[in-house]
Amino acid sequence: MNEPHRGRQTREGIRIHEVADFSGMHKAGRLAAQILDEIADHVFVGQTTGALDALIEDKVNAAGAKSATIGYKGYRHASCISVNHVVCHGIPGDKMLKDGDILNIDVTVIVDGWFGDTSRMYVAGKLSRKAERLIDVTHDALMKGIEAVRPGNTFGDIGHAIQNYVEAQRMSVVRDFCGHGLGRVFHAPPNVLHYGRPGSGPRLEEGMFFTIEPMVNLGRPETKVLADDWTAVTRDKSLSAQFEHSVGVTASGAEIFTLSPAGLFHPTWGRAQN
Ligand code: MF3
Ligand code: CO
Ligand code: CO
Repeated sequence: MNEPHRGRQTREGIRIHEVADFSGMHKAGRLAAQILDEIADHVFVGQTTGALDALIEDKVNAAGAKSATIGYKGYRHASCISVNHVVCHGIPGDKMLKDGDILNIDVTVIVDGWFGDTSRMYVAGKLSRKAERLIDVTHDALMKGIEAVRPGNTFGDIGHAIQNYVEAQRMSVVRDFCGHGLGRVFHAPPNVLHYGRPGSGPRLEEGMFFTIEPMVNLGRPETKVLADDWTAVTRDKSLSAQFEHSVGVTASGAEIFTLSPAGLFHPTWGRAQN
């Protein structure tokens, strides 16, 4: 019998990739991040999320890559765009951005069979103080999660680092959505929870690839999914933010596959506000 997938997986079903696989993930991750960089100048008051998505789809195609989301479980767009109290999986459409809106844009591309999945926050017009604080805390929570990535630590250590930080800022971590393993597939084990107890969950091993993508709310953590079966919103209508990186576990820590080539991962970095 031949072996279509060489290599090993843990008893939890988490694939252990080979050193050579990191470069494939890097290429896919970099394209997704570069597309998010290029979209930054197109986010402004009066712009529609549908127009942003169309731009993203064009850029995926121009790069000779494939969108992982078009056709995924019936989803029809190259991005999810989640505005204000939308937690995740916002569907691009003809609604115009208003002054002070904050939005997450989430793009997943397939390059040479490898999946690159990343999302970040943007602002249309003037960023309010409370939205900026939410965005800062969410970004820093993701980075604290990534700092907990090293062989020997557990997935619970990642979740704990995120939850502990967010709750100390009197904000809440969404429980209803999580990160995920990825690689040559979009969503694989394990579920990467953004909350948890130190030492709980599977142990991290070199060669694991997964996303960390915390969603943080200014109010309560509860969400609900709208009648379109995709859009997840905060139940209390409070503002929500999210950042996502795809990472690989190295011998000593984490390699981030989706770093922003232009240094624009956070909306207040790099260039003047629009
Ligand atoms: N990119 C999202 C994630 O982080 C998944 C979007 S699936 C879609 O896992 F169908 F809604 F696009
Ligand atoms: Co993801
Ligand atoms: Co994503």
